[in-house]
Amino acid sequence: MKLKIAKLPGDGIGPEVVEQAVKVVDAVCRKFGHEAEFAFGFVGACAIDHCGNPFPEETFKTCMESQAVLFGAVGDPKYDNDPTAKVRPEQGLLAMRKQLGLYANLRPVETFSSLVHKSPLKKELVDGADFLCVRELTGGMYFGEKGRLDNGDTAYDTNIYHRYEVERILKLSFEYARLRRKHLTVVDKANVLESSRLWRQVAQEMALQYPDVETDYMYVDNAAMKLITGPKFFDVLVTENTFGDILTDEASCVSGSMGLLASASVGEHTSVFEPIHGSYPQAAGKNIANPVATILSAAMMFEYAFGMMEEGRAIRAAVQASIDAGIVTEDLADGGKAYSTSEVGDWIAAQI
Ligand code: IPM
Ligand code: MN
Repeated sequence: MKLKIAKLPGDGIGPEVVEQAVKVVDAVCRKFGHEAEFAFGFVGACAIDHCGNPFPEETFKTCMESQAVLFGAVGDPKYDNDPTAKVRPEQGLLAMRKQLGLYANLRPVETFSSLVHKSPLKKELVDGADFLCVRELTGGMYFGEKGRLDNGDTAYDTNIYHRYEVERILKLSFEYARLRRKHLTVVDKANVLESSRLWRQVAQEMALQYPDVETDYMYVDNAAMKLITGPKFFDVLVTENTFGDILTDEASCVSGSMGLLASASVGEHTSVFEPIHGSYPQAAGKNIANPVATILSAAMMFEYAFGMMEEGRAIRAAVQASIDAGIVTEDLADGGKAYSTSEVGDWIAAQI
């Protein structure tokens, strides 16, 4: 089968880690008799440098004409400390999510037994933790009306949610819960926020249609604590955009390294597969970043975009083998030999 994939490496370590995932995709295609065709697109700071727009129309077209998007990261330090910058790399990612209608971000958190000691949390707390964070991705404060008043001395961001946005993300979450351990936790701040009260109201209504799913509700501050004191409590966790952004970074500590966590953004048009770690500019160009999160994002791409479960499993098995064999980058090396980004990518591709 021919697979049309848009390749958007973006900024920082994005290009290095995406290159490893491309090697792995090619290896899978050789093994299973597929043919991958990659179409490159600019996004983020490199797109601003290229044409002044962090998500150029051309890149949007490339995404729309592809069956899946493999994405690296966006961000550049030259924008981070300049609050007055008019265009920012992050706007490219937000525009991509909005224009492709990617309202759900799926961030699975799993632990590798041989790596539980890398977690800052106690081994017995994290060993066996396995949950799916579903983050709403195109609504809430990130997209609500924002602005300045009083000559710039007052600033606001509006946290707005419509019923249809809440319903579609909850539907997906209930369905994922059904496929897993049938436990859904809806995370909100319904004791304070009106938008959260809408979420909770809609969730309570919908829960009646999913009697086989045990649904519970948790305030976000409590959830932040529960994620580190008892992560095994969770099966599927669903929450709004801002809370999800924060909680999924926190949740990455469970698995020991941010360099391990993959994600899929799905919705109306082409799905995007990306590591959650961001552009890590300090490591850019040094060939030291962990490519595993992006490689596992490619596994999710086979599973979610192409329905190719066996191909996804082959990638996961090869990643597991690399970790067991100690073929890991410095974030996981533990005083042992640290392999480079490309060495890890080569090893995993060869293993496949
Ligand atoms: C993420 C990132 C993005 C977000 C940034 C880069 C806009 O942190 O994917 O979690 O906040 O959504
Ligand atoms: Mn984030």
